[in-house]
Amino acid sequence: MNAKEKLIIFDTTLRDGEQSPGASMTREEKIRIATALERMRVDIIEAGFPIASQGDFEAVQAVAQTVKDSTVCGLARALDRDIDRAGEALRGAARARIHTFIATSPIHMEMKLRMSPEQVLEQAVRAVKRARQYCDDVEFSPEDAGRSDIDFLCRVLEAVIAAGARTVNIPDTVGYNVPDQFGSLIRELVARVPNADQAVFSVHCHNDLGLAVANSLAAVLNGARQVECTINGLGERAGNAALEEVVMAVRTRPDIFSCQTDLDTTQIVPVSRLVAGVTGFAVQPNKAIVGANAFAHESGIHQDGVLKSRETYEIMRAQDVGWTANRMVLGKHSGRNAFRTRLQELGIALASEEELNDAFTRFKALADKKHEIYDEDLQTLVTEATITAENERVRLVSLKVCSETGETPQAMVTLWFDDAEQSVTARGDGPVDATFKAIENAVHSETVLQLYSVNSITSGTDSQGEVSVRLEKGGRIVNGQGADTDIVIASAKAYVNALNKMFAAPSRAHPQL
Ligand code: KIV
Ligand code: ZN
Repeated sequence: MNAKEKLIIFDTTLRDGEQSPGASMTREEKIRIATALERMRVDIIEAGFPIASQGDFEAVQAVAQTVKDSTVCGLARALDRDIDRAGEALRGAARARIHTFIATSPIHMEMKLRMSPEQVLEQAVRAVKRARQYCDDVEFSPEDAGRSDIDFLCRVLEAVIAAGARTVNIPDTVGYNVPDQFGSLIRELVARVPNADQAVFSVHCHNDLGLAVANSLAAVLNGARQVECTINGLGERAGNAALEEVVMAVRTRPDIFSCQTDLDTTQIVPVSRLVAGVTGFAVQPNKAIVGANAFAHESGIHQDGVLKSRETYEIMRAQDVGWTANRMVLGKHSGRNAFRTRLQELGIALASEEELNDAFTRFKALADKKHEIYDEDLQTLVTEATITAENERVRLVSLKVCSETGETPQAMVTLWFDDAEQSVTARGDGPVDATFKAIENAVHSETVLQLYSVNSITSGTDSQGEVSVRLEKGGRIVNGQGADTDIVIASAKAYVNALNKMFAAPSRAHPQL
């Protein structure tokens, strides 16, 4: 049998993923996710857009200095100042890549850039040459390639490869393409660009029509050897191709795909949880691979089939993507060493002894309430510990809720807010509503609640509830998460988490892409 070609996995959760409204991440959060992506053996991590803000610059710099095995990439428009900033942020990286882009579709060139095709071509070449002064590994993207003229695309790609681009990435920026068409586009580009053999062809698909993964896979079948994707399909608007879906499709269908990735797929679910926790973008239960129901069988016929032979209804093994079958791992008598060892086994690395101590204290508190602690509980607990550690201006001290048939629920909340403790009371339509109103009475954030959702982390009535809250103020959106065996407390934690993000200075202001 022929050895399989490698499919390069380029993760852009920290860059395009962060462009989802409300998903912005701090430097520490980016380091945490980048470390998890590196452990999963992602080939390239696009860590951010260094020119976007000082915060983004520092985040890319910090990821570049932390990650050793994966290549760290910074995005830059085809402008000298963007490329210089990216080059500076990546200095010191073990492996660095600059990804530069300029739009090539008629609508973008005329309406957005107000440039002629010749000017665009010239600027693309100039950008690649400048990026090569900082590193050998340069990627070029003709933005909105999915709506660009193919003859012009061929000219641009030939010119940037000649100028030193080692990867040429074909973005379907607005998610307009369909699989057959996108696959043909890639096949034609690979065939027509004279120096195509000197670069890796990559794709970057958006999900506006729900086709991002299908388009990416069609491209792979037609010669693309790098896929740009994000954890949980996070990304601008409807998101990007979901990494977990691309990787598992290629792995599950070796009869169809002649390439393979180097990923450790058992890290998929832990990384998905980490990203959901950090961004506050909960994963829908029926999401492929990482949704809570992805391996659950409800119908009696299916259950019977799976019990007789798993392959009757399962095409993948849950443990191969990191699901751990709700295994009871620790209890209230477990010590710090057992806790640390299990975290290590789960691939969860805490940054310091202080973080470990903090997580262990939370573990003990949880074990007092919930006797059986599962891997999923540990993952949530650690994510929660790191989410709350930063930028804390509001802290929940205690909460008491009275809810009685026929009575209006009332919440009494004690908060630590701006270095002073205060207690507030409010009534509401339900216990959660009363709690949120009480918190508002203390902090007067004037935010608008846009989304509230609860998921149970494991099964059983003593499961922890994981709450996501989305707040909006003046067009700025933040997401918060909280977990607890008591869902009203989990809700209060999520609200407070979102408030802390809202109160923190916005870390970024993207220039126009
Ligand atoms: O969607 C897009 O075109 C992008 C480019 C910067 C690659 O994100
Ligand atoms: Zn994109």
